[in-house]
Amino acid sequence: VLRFTKIAEIQHFLRDTGTGQTIGFVPTMGALHAGHMSLIAMSRADCDLTVCSIFVNPKQFNDKNDLNRYPRTPEADAKMLEKAGCDILFTPSEGEIYPDSSETTFYFHGVDSILEGASRPGHFSGVALVVARLFEIVRPDKAYFGSKDYQQVVIVRMLVKQLSIPVDIIAAPIIREKDGLAMSSRNALLSRDERDAAALIPAVIQKARERARTSGIAAARKLVEQAFKGHPILRLDYYEVRDAETLAPLSSLDGKPAVSLLAVYCGKIRLIDNLSL
Ligand code: PAF
Repeated sequence: VLRFTKIAEIQHFLRDTGTGQTIGFVPTMGALHAGHMSLIAMSRADCDLTVCSIFVNPKQFNDKNDLNRYPRTPEADAKMLEKAGCDILFTPSEGEIYPDSSETTFYFHGVDSILEGASRPGHFSGVALVVARLFEIVRPDKAYFGSKDYQQVVIVRMLVKQLSIPVDIIAAPIIREKDGLAMSSRNALLSRDERDAAALIPAVIQKARERARTSGIAAARKLVEQAFKGHPILRLDYYEVRDAETLAPLSSLDGKPAVSLLAVYCGKIRLIDNLSL
């Protein structure tokens, strides 16, 4: 894997050596796991060159503690990318990505302030800022995102549409651990007890899906609230059933594609998951 830290250098390489080759891009914040590797594999299958970026983007963390404890495993990441056959690794500094204090403001018509955005104010502005910047640098033909961050995919699709960025956004299926827990870099922060308890999250969202189908959305929400009520480790932040495309609230499952989304605090660590209905 070829490694670049400077924008001018990666751009020079991609525009020169990469001429006429299709570019697949996997933006990440590192602490890579099998979920990320599935994105690399998809990109390699579709594109001539695969670029992975690792940049822990301070602007998308509304909570300083969350930023400070976010796992960083640069050596292991580089090894995994090498083994996965990734062509280029881009690890820019903060000064490289944000050279001055000017900031673009995006409007996502409220989609950025519901669900994750309600609990993490400013999070999606930060995501949009860095993704727009990275797209400008890499200019990929296709970009790959994990569906665990479902709302992020919706926001990124809105972003590329608004800015007319010529990139295909590919959402890849969630990769899960043996017990069903959605893979996440944050899982590495869980204690043994927390990790064991977290297995309840996928089990509950699965059960809730059945309940939603048989008895409706309100009954599903009740099931989820009951499942976490009084739990010593897990605390429900939200469980919502939404329009799968727009994330607009749904009052019933009237045949429209729907998605259920939830966030749960596991100790101090916030975990999210989602399931199509
Ligand atoms: O999903 C992530 O890891 C991040 O939100 C992303 C897309 C790399 C932007 O920083």
